[in-house]
Amino acid sequence: MFQPLLVTDRRGGINPRASRTLMRDQSLPNVALIGFMGTGKTLLGRMLAHRWGWRFVDTDALVEQKVGCSVAQIFERFGEEYFRQQETEVLRSLENLHRVVIATGGGVPTRTDNVISLRRHAVIVWLTAQPEVILQRVQPIQTRPKLASAAEPLAEIRRLMSERETAYACADIRLDTSTLSPEEAVERIEELVRGWKPRNLT
Ligand code: S3P
Repeated sequence: MFQPLLVTDRRGGINPRASRTLMRDQSLPNVALIGFMGTGKTLLGRMLAHRWGWRFVDTDALVEQKVGCSVAQIFERFGEEYFRQQETEVLRSLENLHRVVIATGGGVPTRTDNVISLRRHAVIVWLTAQPEVILQRVQPIQTRPKLASAAEPLAEIRRLMSERETAYACADIRLDTSTLSPEEAVERIEELVRGWKPRNLT
């Protein structure tokens, strides 16, 4: 079970260096970042892993490696259902890892099995952002099969985000990254993960 360990200085603030050392504690669960495209999962996941000396994995990259072509090509050649199946298999293969930050594809929580799998070994952090910010961040849109063919991408972002809201709400922690710099977002995630009230990993 996750034991939050806070190291405070004399004034009660969190001591960042000691905090980083404690993130090396073997008993900590993994951290999984979920959320819509363009909310910062890959960038922030990579930064967090680097900061804590943890391993970083990205489920889209693992699926690409497994299948041997890009996500856009997988959608085009084999269809979304095939992509989702590969994604589920990749997630399963992560269950025995430790001290890993996982950036997930935006559709991962739409399958209950994926959520159950992540909840077995990770604190789940839901990154959000305003739809207008997301539209700017997901360019070039041709690389995003769920948005590429939409006549009105902003409306499609809004529609998909609202359709997935309940699925994303499986998270333990939520953070809006719209106005945060990557460094600020990373600080905030670390604070939130460390202050997270433990639940049984099921
Ligand atoms: C998808 C998000 C993408 C990728 C695929 C489908 C989605 O991942 O898995 O294009 O359904 O939201 P990112 O969220 O990492 O862009």
